[in-house]
Amino acid sequence: MGLAGSLVTCRSWNQVPMPHHDTFIDRNLALDVVRVTEASALAASLLVGRGDEQAADEAAAKWMHRTLNSLAIEGAIVIGEQGSELLQAGQRVGGGGPKLDIALDPLEGTTITAKGGENALSVVAMAQNGSFFSAPDIYMDKIAIGPNLPTTLLDLDAGPRENLKRLAEAKGVPVVELLVCILDRPRHTELIHQVREAGARIMLISDGDISGIIAASQPQSGVDVYMGIGGAPEGVLAAAALRCVGGQMQARLHLRNDEDKARAARHGIHDLHRKYGLEDLVGGDVMFAATGVTNGALVRGVRRFKGGAFTHSVVMRSRTGTVRWIESHHDFRRKSFGMQGEG
Ligand code: FBP
Repeated sequence: MGLAGSLVTCRSWNQVPMPHHDTFIDRNLALDVVRVTEASALAASLLVGRGDEQAADEAAAKWMHRTLNSLAIEGAIVIGEQGSELLQAGQRVGGGGPKLDIALDPLEGTTITAKGGENALSVVAMAQNGSFFSAPDIYMDKIAIGPNLPTTLLDLDAGPRENLKRLAEAKGVPVVELLVCILDRPRHTELIHQVREAGARIMLISDGDISGIIAASQPQSGVDVYMGIGGAPEGVLAAAALRCVGGQMQARLHLRNDEDKARAARHGIHDLHRKYGLEDLVGGDVMFAATGVTNGALVRGVRRFKGGAFTHSVVMRSRTGTVRWIESHHDFRRKSFGMQGEG
């Protein structure tokens, strides 16, 4: 744990014999991107458990916007905060530099934060222009697993029983050993029933399917597979993380009504039944950073103390497979971030 500044630990999933020559993503950008998610997580952490989702969302968005604008990039937000004045899709951020597309969620898990629950995150992903699927703000059906499994293993059309059978065979375990992460929603009653009938175990989460999907790629989480319907923008952000750590995902827009269809059409989507693979959701070289607001499967939450706080973050990049875990100590007497309540 860092006592001054940041302690950075690094691990590489891939064999990387030589440093790569960077083009649009500057290697130094990794630490700058973490500053962005740290700032928004710190801001949201003041609102943990206060029952005010909007205030938590606004605080996180304000600080994410402020720190994004301090980066030496020319950023275009592709996945943004619906309804936010500052961070909507289409807005530009950054102080000038390489052109990058940005997917973000200043506070993934507003309800979690308002209730002081687990798995609230602040998240940013950056990639070359045109790399992110421009997801409309509607639902998406998703299935996701971790690395080192056959690439065509799972298929949304195969159904939960068949997918669990295939996964169990590939992992060499009986289906009863598998743990499936599912958002606890009435729309998942049938899915939950089918998974239980197949014999697998279930971890129901109240919110936060970015975390749920990432958990499927982290052996220590115990989660083998994520299944179910959540936000489409969250699907793109989760895909960015999976592109970096390895893993697979298949997704399809879940359209409830004509308004959803109209939203998809406004994003230029005409094949409404298309199944998207990981690379369809996020292509090219992507950088993903997340800081915990509350404790979760990936990172620990903000721990505040008199005059400061610790944050725990991860920053990773698809091209190199490098994953950096960053524990930072923030001294509010030297750098307030407005974290004492002022604006
Ligand atoms: P917010 O942080 O925007 O509230 O999203 C939380 C979340 O649980 C997402 O992780 C998930 O994709 C989505 O909401 C599910 O939507 P709903 O709450 O409508 O089922």
